[in-house]
Amino acid sequence: MPETITVRVGGKSLDVPVGASVAVAALIAGIPCRTSVTNQPRTPLCGMGICFECRMVINGQPHLRSCQVLCEPGMEIFPDE
Ligand code: FES
Repeated sequence: MPETITVRVGGKSLDVPVGASVAVAALIAGIPCRTSVTNQPRTPLCGMGICFECRMVINGQPHLRSCQVLCEPGMEIFPDE
Protein backbone atom coordinates (compact mmCIF):
# COMPACT_ATOMS: atom_id res chain seq x y z
CA MET A 1 0.00 0.00 0.00
CA PRO A 2 1.46 3.40 -0.93
CA GLU A 3 2.21 5.81 1.87
CA THR A 4 1.11 8.74 -0.24
CA ILE A 5 -1.59 9.41 -2.79
CA THR A 6 -1.71 12.04 -5.51
CA VAL A 7 -4.45 14.65 -5.62
CA ARG A 8 -4.81 17.90 -7.56
CA VAL A 9 -5.02 21.04 -5.46
CA GLY A 10 -5.64 24.37 -7.16
CA GLY A 11 -4.85 22.71 -10.50
CA LYS A 12 -1.47 21.28 -9.42
CA SER A 13 -0.56 17.70 -8.57
CA LEU A 14 0.30 17.10 -4.95
CA ASP A 15 1.36 13.98 -3.03
CA VAL A 16 -0.25 13.79 0.41
CA PRO A 17 0.02 11.16 3.14
CA VAL A 18 -2.63 8.45 3.10
CA GLY A 19 -5.30 9.52 5.57
CA ALA A 20 -4.78 13.26 5.05
CA SER A 21 -7.91 15.38 4.96
CA VAL A 22 -8.67 17.73 2.09
CA ALA A 23 -8.06 20.69 4.43
CA VAL A 24 -4.59 19.33 5.17
CA ALA A 25 -3.94 19.00 1.44
CA ALA A 26 -4.79 22.69 1.05
CA LEU A 27 -2.41 23.58 3.87
CA ILE A 28 0.39 21.51 2.31
CA ALA A 29 -0.30 23.18 -1.05
CA GLY A 30 -0.24 26.61 0.57
CA ILE A 31 -3.61 27.70 -0.73
CA PRO A 32 -6.60 29.04 1.22
CA CYS A 33 -9.71 26.93 1.63
CA ARG A 34 -11.96 29.84 0.73
CA THR A 35 -12.13 33.60 0.39
CA SER A 36 -14.09 35.66 2.92
CA VAL A 37 -16.76 38.22 2.01
CA THR A 38 -14.07 40.89 2.40
CA ASN A 39 -11.82 38.95 0.00
CA GLN A 40 -9.46 37.64 2.69
CA PRO A 41 -7.96 34.14 2.45
CA ARG A 42 -9.35 31.72 5.03
CA THR A 43 -7.68 28.54 6.26
CA PRO A 44 -8.81 25.67 8.51
CA LEU A 45 -9.26 26.78 12.11
CA CYS A 46 -10.61 23.97 14.27
CA GLY A 47 -9.82 20.90 12.17
CA MET A 48 -12.72 19.03 13.73
CA GLY A 49 -15.84 20.10 11.85
CA ILE A 50 -17.06 23.01 13.98
CA CYS A 51 -15.91 26.31 12.46
CA PHE A 52 -16.81 25.86 8.75
CA GLU A 53 -13.72 27.89 7.77
CA CYS A 54 -12.56 25.03 5.54
CA ARG A 55 -15.25 25.17 2.86
CA MET A 56 -13.82 23.93 -0.45
CA VAL A 57 -14.86 22.57 -3.83
CA ILE A 58 -14.06 18.87 -4.17
CA ASN A 59 -14.53 17.15 -7.52
CA GLY A 60 -16.73 20.04 -8.62
CA GLN A 61 -19.02 19.89 -5.58
CA PRO A 62 -19.00 22.37 -2.67
CA HIS A 63 -18.18 20.88 0.73
CA LEU A 64 -18.78 22.76 3.98
CA ARG A 65 -16.12 20.94 6.01
CA SER A 66 -13.11 19.79 4.01
CA CYS A 67 -11.38 18.88 7.27
CA GLN A 68 -13.83 15.98 7.55
CA VAL A 69 -13.18 14.60 4.04
CA LEU A 70 -10.25 12.27 3.42
CA CYS A 71 -8.22 12.69 0.23
CA GLU A 72 -8.73 10.06 -2.44
CA PRO A 73 -6.44 9.43 -5.42
CA GLY A 74 -7.11 11.83 -8.28
CA MET A 75 -9.35 14.12 -6.25
CA GLU A 76 -9.71 17.65 -7.69
CA ILE A 77 -9.64 20.27 -4.94
CA PHE A 78 -10.17 24.01 -5.31
CA PRO A 79 -10.82 26.89 -2.90
CA ASP A 80 -14.46 27.89 -2.43
CA GLU A 81 -14.62 31.39 -3.89
S1 FES B 1 -11.44 23.47 10.04
FE1 FES B 1 -13.18 23.92 11.23
S2 FES B 1 -14.82 22.89 10.26
FE2 FES B 1 -13.03 22.32 9.14
